[in-house]
Amino acid sequence: MVNLNDAGCLKALDSTGFFEALAGLSEQCLKAYEIGRKAAVPALPEVQNIVVTGLGGSAIGGDLLRVYCQERLGVPVVVNRDYTLPAFAGAKTLIFAVSYSGNTEETLNAYQQAREEGCALVALTSGGKLQALAAADGVPVVQVPSGLAPRAATGYLFIPMLAILESFGMLAGVAGEVAELARELETYRAAYGLETPEEKNPAKQLALAFKDRIPVVWGASGTTEVVAQRWKGQVNENAKAPAYWNVFPELNHNEVVGFEKPEELLRQLWVVFLRDREDHPRVSYRMEVTRQIIEKKVAGVTEVTSTGAGMLARLYSLIYLGDWTSAYLAVLYGIDPGPVKVIDYLKGELAKR
Ligand code: F6R
Repeated sequence: MVNLNDAGCLKALDSTGFFEALAGLSEQCLKAYEIGRKAAVPALPEVQNIVVTGLGGSAIGGDLLRVYCQERLGVPVVVNRDYTLPAFAGAKTLIFAVSYSGNTEETLNAYQQAREEGCALVALTSGGKLQALAAADGVPVVQVPSGLAPRAATGYLFIPMLAILESFGMLAGVAGEVAELARELETYRAAYGLETPEEKNPAKQLALAFKDRIPVVWGASGTTEVVAQRWKGQVNENAKAPAYWNVFPELNHNEVVGFEKPEELLRQLWVVFLRDREDHPRVSYRMEVTRQIIEKKVAGVTEVTSTGAGMLARLYSLIYLGDWTSAYLAVLYGIDPGPVKVIDYLKGELAKR
């Protein structure tokens, strides 16, 4: 088995520089904020709702925006992972069409529909067809640097939207929160990074716990729900392994009942509770009771509590742990974390007709 303390061995498995991209997240977030502030996006007289349309690594930034804005913005943010837009989308809808590659067919389709419905559009991309279309249509393009895996570009695919809403006067205090986030990410990088040995590295320890097991990641509605979803996706795409996620309090009304059978399989699960100080107090209590119900039936349980002051830093303290953990899990399986051949294959097949 790969020794997680052997940084050279880890780098040798990583053909795309995925670990390096992970390590660069702090700088990426600062750059992403600058890109967003400089974007020439005309303010709308009236925004009734916001839709972020995108898929995979380009959609999770929309979820981050939705959760971040839930208690800070007077209009709803909806994330649309589909070819078509919800029926409410119209002239008072601000649509962020987000595709890192710029070539995701669902997003391109939704972009065209947004044009037809007369929505206010912003394209967030590193290039591709989306960039070309938007430029030709006179739609503002927020162009971010290319060369990363979309899921390693979460700063670029999220923070410019915050910066734009801040420049519209719809959000306040984003600059300060991004500065805190960048500082905290440096601390987390030191804690989770390649050079920090297993004994002191929670990401390496968690990857070892996940190995040969199925991670089940539980967050809380309105706070860590987006992190739970992100961890699941990162285990899938980086380690090429299954993982599942759900949220409190909803899971207390169904999923928690399903821990009786089959006992053998349940013993292969590793359950993670993601906690944040803004979780509803009843949800925190639910987590404690739920842990007691399931703990003896599964392989293990880990609780992680976010750190930091602002919501951005707190959410990313958990996201970053999941990012590193899933990349370490990849190498424990002897898997190259960067390439996602199955997604590439699917996109190639779909492009044929
Ligand atoms: C790959 C990844 C995927 C893509 C998704 C959409 O790293 O994260 O989930 O994000 O296939 O592609 P883009 O982001 O280019 O629109």
